[in-house]
Amino acid sequence: MTMTTPKRIGLLTGGGDCPGLNAVIRGVVRAAVGRGWEVIGVEDGFDGFLHEEKCRVLGLEDVRGILPRGGTILGTSNRGNPFSFPMVREGKIELVDVSEEVVSCIDRLGLAALVVVGGDGSLKIAGELMRRGIQIVGVPKTIDNDLLETDVTFGYNTAVQTATEALDKLHSTAESHHRVMVLEVMGRYAGWIALESGIAGGADVILVPEIPYDVEKIGHSIAERSRRGRRFSVVVAAEGAFPKGGNRVVKEGAGGKTVVERLGGIGEQVCRELGGYLEMDIRVTVLGHLQRGGSPSCFDRVIGSRFGVKAVELIEAGAFGQMVCLKGRHVTSVPIEDAIRSLNLIDPTGEMVRHAEALGIMLGR
Ligand code: F6P
Repeated sequence: MTMTTPKRIGLLTGGGDCPGLNAVIRGVVRAAVGRGWEVIGVEDGFDGFLHEEKCRVLGLEDVRGILPRGGTILGTSNRGNPFSFPMVREGKIELVDVSEEVVSCIDRLGLAALVVVGGDGSLKIAGELMRRGIQIVGVPKTIDNDLLETDVTFGYNTAVQTATEALDKLHSTAESHHRVMVLEVMGRYAGWIALESGIAGGADVILVPEIPYDVEKIGHSIAERSRRGRRFSVVVAAEGAFPKGGNRVVKEGAGGKTVVERLGGIGEQVCRELGGYLEMDIRVTVLGHLQRGGSPSCFDRVIGSRFGVKAVELIEAGAFGQMVCLKGRHVTSVPIEDAIRSLNLIDPTGEMVRHAEALGIMLGR
């Protein structure tokens, strides 16, 4: 009698968290266990491989009841690039290549494949590990929706919903007090959250990184609206938006605890700049990490679950180096390399922008 060794696969969530990660984890575990495989959950992204005790078996019991929960039961990290890992040496932080340790941990654990649930950064690390012989399948995650080759990333839908609810609330208070309300949302390089929540929430002005703004024009448009009797306005600005000829507003430079620079402050900046053009009271709200937390929307639960199952199907088919994706209504896959070659940015002359402008929304230009 021949016995086939049960397949053992690894699963990690990397980068910033987002709603729907637990749906993916549950999907992977259910589909894998259903095939008689074993799943090893790796805690805190790639960091988990540097501490083998952070790699544990994930069974059906472990994923029970997690579908509606925000965050990730595995934990995550956006500092854990094993090819450039921050280590304290003689009181200073040095970036060290610890990828050999990661590869040998994967070997010791006997993982036939690894599912990496992450955004652009985590999938780039996955690409490097594949070159070291690790068999990887990717699942596209990010509230920013800035990954190429998928119609959407999971987590984005919930974030847009959260931002839209905030805009609805700001609308009523803006109208009561005849104020301009500026909402700062996430969106480092891509302004999708600002654009879609702005359309859904009836914003008057949307500012995105892909379209540098002209504050004078924004001021005139709000003043003109006020003259027409609409004595309030709602502005939504992506954190990565910046004025023509200017730069993104950086809250904290890269280095130390932050691997990439922390953005933040564009809302305040727009407030200050608009103050020079308007008599109206202007206030800012920064939505921040509320967009990353909370229970996933139905869409993100469904797509996250399906992405998880598809990742297991890809491993079963030996389709390594692929990233699960959504094309139309189909969950399919593309090479990870194609998904990370650049970012999915808003086309300033594209359909979505044209439609927003046709609705009377000002895009800062
Ligand atoms: O990548 C998603 C994102 O939400 C960006 O829009 C934002 O700049 C970043 O995460 C914030 O990350 P952190 O929580 O590490 O500050």
